[in-house]
Amino acid sequence: MNEAVSAKVPMIVVEGLRKSIRNGPRTVDILKGLDFSIPQGQFAAIMGASGSGKSTLLGLLAGLDTPSSGNVHLNGTAISYLPEDKLAQVRGKTIGFVFQSYQLIPTLTALENVLLPYELNADAQDSDAGMARARELLTNVGLGDRLDHYPVQLSGGEQQRVALARAFILRPPIVLADEPTGNLDTTNGAHVLELLLNLNRTEGTTLVLVTHDPVLATYANRRIVLRDGLIVSDEINANPTADAQQTAAVAR
Ligand SMILES: Nc1ncnc2c1ncn2[C@@H]1O[C@H](COP(=O)(O)OP(=O)(O)OP(=O)(O)O)[C@@H](O)[C@H]1O
Ligand SMILES: [Mg+2]
Repeated sequence: MNEAVSAKVPMIVVEGLRKSIRNGPRTVDILKGLDFSIPQGQFAAIMGASGSGKSTLLGLLAGLDTPSSGNVHLNGTAISYLPEDKLAQVRGKTIGFVFQSYQLIPTLTALENVLLPYELNADAQDSDAGMARARELLTNVGLGDRLDHYPVQLSGGEQQRVALARAFILRPPIVLADEPTGNLDTTNGAHVLELLLNLNRTEGTTLVLVTHDPVLATYANRRIVLRDGLIVSDEINANPTADAQQTAAVAR
């Protein structure tokens, strides 16, 4: 393994990870044996064609799905076969997840959606602090004037930004995001990226991002490419692009 990778404490360790799904008489092998580790504070981009297994991998990293074999360790805990209550605890403390399909609660406003993980967390009961953080995060993603809007009253890109703010509310050490800028215009995409980079730099958040966007991937310290359920390339980017506002400036 590259020394730059092995030098730091691994935050995510993936061992022999396989996922197959029974589809009638046939078995579909979606992930065919993945091994890698992601050190604390790394920003890794997962790339690969549609159907290569990226979302499946992210779901397994988050413990939202169980592998057919192999395991995922998050911050030293093997999570793949934990009982649901234990898993929920680890997940709540460790992970912020941004789904490809946002998964906002339709009956809650933008602000309430962002606050939800906070309210469900037993360790975070200062509601004024939670509210202030939720407002700040929504303002950071450019939605300070949409706090009381329900998901149906928001565009796809706005919903995506709410989902991103929600993933950050508990300051998780790991943020997993599936195409977080997929539906955003260049300016808003740059804002979201800036937010991710800031968290990565100031709070040491470990970031794993699925993206099709080769420009976004230039900001990452590492690029892992999947093809047909296998890693076909895993490269360190020693000189990641530093400033997401450059992209916004080019767009203006
Ligand atoms: N429940 C399922 N049953 C059968 N096949 C599935 C199931 N879930 C996923 N697959 C298949 O597994 C493969 C990987 O799916 P996955 O969603 O991980 O791809 P992806 O790389 O995220 O693609 P995209 O870029 O389009 O989001 C696809 O071929 C998909 O059809
Ligand atoms: Mg996907």
